[in-house]
Amino acid sequence: MSIQINHQNSSLKKPSANLVLFVDENFDISGLKKHISNVEFSYIKDLLKNNDLKKNLLFFQVNSKKTVFLLSIKKNLENSAIENLGAEFHGYIKYDNKSEYFINSDSISSKHENFIGYFLHGLKLKSYEFNLYKSKKDKKLISINIIGKKNKLTIKNELRFKAIEEGTFFARDLVSEPPNVLNPKEYTNRLLKLRKLGIKVTVYNESQMKKLGMHSLLGVGRGSINESFLVTLEWNGNKKDKKAPLSFIGKGVCFDTGGISLKPAKFMEEMKYDMAGSAVVAGLIQTLATRKAKVNAVGVVGLVENMPGGNAQRPGDIVKAYNGKTIEVLNTDAEGRLVLADALSFAEAKFKPRFMIDLATLTGAIIMALGEEYAGLFSNNDDLSNKIFKVGEKVKEKVWRLPLHDNYDKLINSTIADMQNINYSGGAGSITAAQFLQRFVTSKTPWAHLDIAGMAFSKKAANLNPGGATGFGVRLLNQLIEDHYE
Ligand code: BES
Ligand code: MN
Ligand code: ZN
Repeated sequence: MSIQINHQNSSLKKPSANLVLFVDENFDISGLKKHISNVEFSYIKDLLKNNDLKKNLLFFQVNSKKTVFLLSIKKNLENSAIENLGAEFHGYIKYDNKSEYFINSDSISSKHENFIGYFLHGLKLKSYEFNLYKSKKDKKLISINIIGKKNKLTIKNELRFKAIEEGTFFARDLVSEPPNVLNPKEYTNRLLKLRKLGIKVTVYNESQMKKLGMHSLLGVGRGSINESFLVTLEWNGNKKDKKAPLSFIGKGVCFDTGGISLKPAKFMEEMKYDMAGSAVVAGLIQTLATRKAKVNAVGVVGLVENMPGGNAQRPGDIVKAYNGKTIEVLNTDAEGRLVLADALSFAEAKFKPRFMIDLATLTGAIIMALGEEYAGLFSNNDDLSNKIFKVGEKVKEKVWRLPLHDNYDKLINSTIADMQNINYSGGAGSITAAQFLQRFVTSKTPWAHLDIAGMAFSKKAANLNPGGATGFGVRLLNQLIEDHYE
């Protein structure tokens, strides 16, 4: 099923059926007389008495050809509540068999100048489908026509919403792809396509990474026949800005078997989404380029496959990272931090960024702590941390800060190398993983780490997604940039 949205500039095309109107809280229909006939008005007024007015959506078949949908708008709705209303409307039309709807924007009494924009944005985000591998596709097309003169989307707003939707969908597509298709090489090819948006894409292959000394990342990919890559994505949308770029670093483990420290079979298939952090970075940079954001930002993603094999890394191996530090690999399943170690220190050395935000499906422990409601946030900088927190509440991609502390850091000291990649005592698995990452960031650079293991993918649907890959983080970080760095 696909949805086409048409913005009609006037009500030239008179809607005959499936008219969608907005009413005030508790289905106060006093404002509707302008939009429907007297007969329809009294009919609906009568029927409303028998309905649950606490709902958001009610519909009335006023005659054999026409249905009137009423969406009730509570006072002072936040943007996210308007998006949810759009998503709820999508939930209805998905199971309805009508092919055309007319939404009359003149019926909106809300003062919100961008009500229709957020409504349609929510509807679109919820309508995502990944059906590439279904041999029978649902070809149904539903067209939604916006009629009425009020609340028109400006070109700028339309582009903004489109950019976020496309960036989110790009991230969701990458995460949804099966691991036999989206190996690091294929992933690299898809990132190279971003060049047509004006993004500078640079690919480092294994031999280049070897020369650069990225043995922490390379060690993870050793067991796989698929070559590892590190890719940088640069969007320079503000040529006059001489300040350092913002940077976003993503874990791109295309499949995580655990390596020699093999994972159990049950639900191992979910480890295809262990590249979600990198997919969000790619989706974000795409969003910035599509909406031509006046900002300079760079994405750095480490793309590897964590497999057992004759050449695989062993528990006990010691590797030297890009920044010269040595790591004793006690568990090959704690591989995300090994990939990010090189990606982070390379990003900092190469781009000298204003800040670094990394995203990773890093630990199962964060799911124990925060479930599917909040991502874990770790940071060396209160200001950056507070900004991310506030923006998260606003766009409803929520984050919760957890502590870093020297005493946690000590837990990953190794007896024979600079550090080990897991701690055997002290618990706090998500925190010690973050402490590990912090060892690859110099203290002068503001840094935040988002552990999105519980947020990247969900078996069940949520407000703005149909279930599956969520794209969590694209809207959060785009809003962070809009609110503070543009
Ligand atoms: N990719 C996993 C983390 C993960 C687990 C993401 C479940 C999503 C769902 C990560 O590479 C991993 O295996 N972490 C280990 C670390 C442990 C060996 C210290 C974990 O969380 O069990
Ligand atoms: Mn792992
Ligand atoms: Zn992993």
